[in-house]
Amino acid sequence: MGGSKVEGFDAHYAGTPLWDLGRPQTALRDLAEAGAFRGRVLDVGCGTGEVALMAAALGLPTVGIDSASTAIGIARRKAEERGLPARFLVGDALNSATWASSSTPCSTAPCSTRSARPNASATPAAWPP
Ligand SMILES: C[S@@+](CC[C@H](N)C(=O)[O-])C[C@H]1O[C@@H](n2cnc3c(N)ncnc32)[C@H](O)[C@@H]1O
Repeated sequence: MGGSKVEGFDAHYAGTPLWDLGRPQTALRDLAEAGAFRGRVLDVGCGTGEVALMAAALGLPTVGIDSASTAIGIARRKAEERGLPARFLVGDALNSATWASSSTPCSTAPCSTRSARPNASATPAAWPP
């Protein structure tokens, strides 16, 4: 992702960015409570993971992707603290080569070069597996 605009987001996570509510947005929480979240969940631009973690808490296989490694570190820590199996990947969602290549659970392992599933094709359209 060298030189790309997405790198600029990481600096925001040195503090708490305005958009990081520490909980899912109300509209998304309402949708989840209404049963709108089903199947496998891919949260693109997941930030520190609140929406992905909500999905994981519903028992849905969940992967969050964000280009900001600091945000993903926070998301992984939350997943571990909450005992939730969501996987978090560092990568540019617009460049699946940065995140599509393995299946290691990412809440507990570095995943910057790994993907959500084994043998994944390097196209976002390959999701869900
Ligand atoms: C406005 S924040 C929202 C974060 C999170 N969804 C939330 O509600 O707290 C947008 C997020 O998208 C991420 N992002 C922007 N462009 C991206 C890209 N091309 N690939 C992956 N993540 C990206 C940023 O790093 C940032 O964390």
